[in-house]
Amino acid sequence: MAIFSNEELQEFTELQKRYGKPAATLLPVLWRIQEKRGWIDSDAMEEAAAICQVPKSHVEGVVQFYTMFFDKPMGRFHVQVCTNVSCMLRGGEELYNHVRQQLGIENHGRTENGIFSLEEVECMGACGGAPMMALNDTFYECVTTEEASKVLAETQRAGVNPKPKFVAQLPELSEAANR
Ligand code: FES
Repeated sequence: MAIFSNEELQEFTELQKRYGKPAATLLPVLWRIQEKRGWIDSDAMEEAAAICQVPKSHVEGVVQFYTMFFDKPMGRFHVQVCTNVSCMLRGGEELYNHVRQQLGIENHGRTENGIFSLEEVECMGACGGAPMMALNDTFYECVTTEEASKVLAETQRAGVNPKPKFVAQLPELSEAANR
């Protein structure tokens, strides 16, 4: 079954006009597939290849290169814990091991109920709030093992993840321009 509606295909055509060649839209096409399906299977790679006019082997290479793309089903909530230097110095490895034990899965594993999957990651750019953990697009910073347990339990209970204590605020564009 086709993944995209005619409207979505039209959006990609517009993007391709902007960038000049169809292959330039491969990342947004793959991202949209993952948003819709949760992961990128072989049929989806074929569809992406047709839209972007590249060989399927090229799409496979891109999916395997970027760690944010999944070539197997992951949990509804993909948990990432950083163990790179800043996070490691502030307990990132302990945090990762705690989450791993709590979920009962290994790196790149998925819980049986399909709610969580786990990944140990390199720097996610939140070093100032080390150690950090992410659930899908939500970043939790300065996380203790107790807080991690609470976040996971609340997510499992409610089916949505709780708001983080710290939310990064980007400066307004006009403020940034005046600096
Ligand atoms: S080292 Fe963990 S976010 Fe940068």
